[in-house]
Amino acid sequence: MRLDKYISSQRIDLSRSDVKKLVRAGKVEVNGAAAKKPEMNVDPADTVEVCGEIVGYKEHIYIMLNKPQGCICSTRAGRTPTVLELVPEELRRRGLFPAGRLDKDTEGFVLITDDGELAHNMLAPSRHVPKTYYVRLEKPYDPACEALFAEGITIDGGEVCLPAECCADGDDPHACALTLHEGKFHQVKRMFEAAGNRVVYLKRISIGGLALDPNLPLGGCLELMHKDVEKLLCRGDSN
Ligand code: URA
Repeated sequence: MRLDKYISSQRIDLSRSDVKKLVRAGKVEVNGAAAKKPEMNVDPADTVEVCGEIVGYKEHIYIMLNKPQGCICSTRAGRTPTVLELVPEELRRRGLFPAGRLDKDTEGFVLITDDGELAHNMLAPSRHVPKTYYVRLEKPYDPACEALFAEGITIDGGEVCLPAECCADGDDPHACALTLHEGKFHQVKRMFEAAGNRVVYLKRISIGGLALDPNLPLGGCLELMHKDVEKLLCRGDSN
């Protein structure tokens, strides 16, 4: 890969033309020697330094965000804050996007990445990657939901949901955990409405085989390591 591309892909603060200027000023080194041209070829095994600081190379980045209420899963900056604004400077890079959406008033696990292929695999309806939600309801949780959802409930507009697993959660009679294998618009809320109840609080607590880190505060971000990234695609069966 070209040196200028390598550096600007890893450093949100440096465009390719910034890198060209830095190379001309002798501030970029490759394996300890000043780089002569911004178009020289480097690979991930090379040590690249800008102003004495090593630029480590990662092809992609994967960030677990504990989304708070009040922000939206969008890449477009506007009046409403987006989840991307919560990503700290040191994890920012070009091309980041939220893989999937939670409603503005939903909390919990959102994956932010620049890896389009992984996001596609995680979200493709045919992959049935499970997503589990902690749900608090207006009326007490009715265990009859378990059979209703397991059969595939029909929600408003006549859409039939794939079978989903539901169970009571802890001591709170209004709380349950629901696992979906697809992602229809407002699906959890619409499923409980079809079952005669109403969601008053919603939090996504896992994606695939990866749980939201219980120590991650609302609005906090955590870079995922390779072994955790693989868990995102686990279906919980033998896939
Ligand atoms: N289902 C919903 O109703 N809302 C979400 O944010 C996610 C799933």
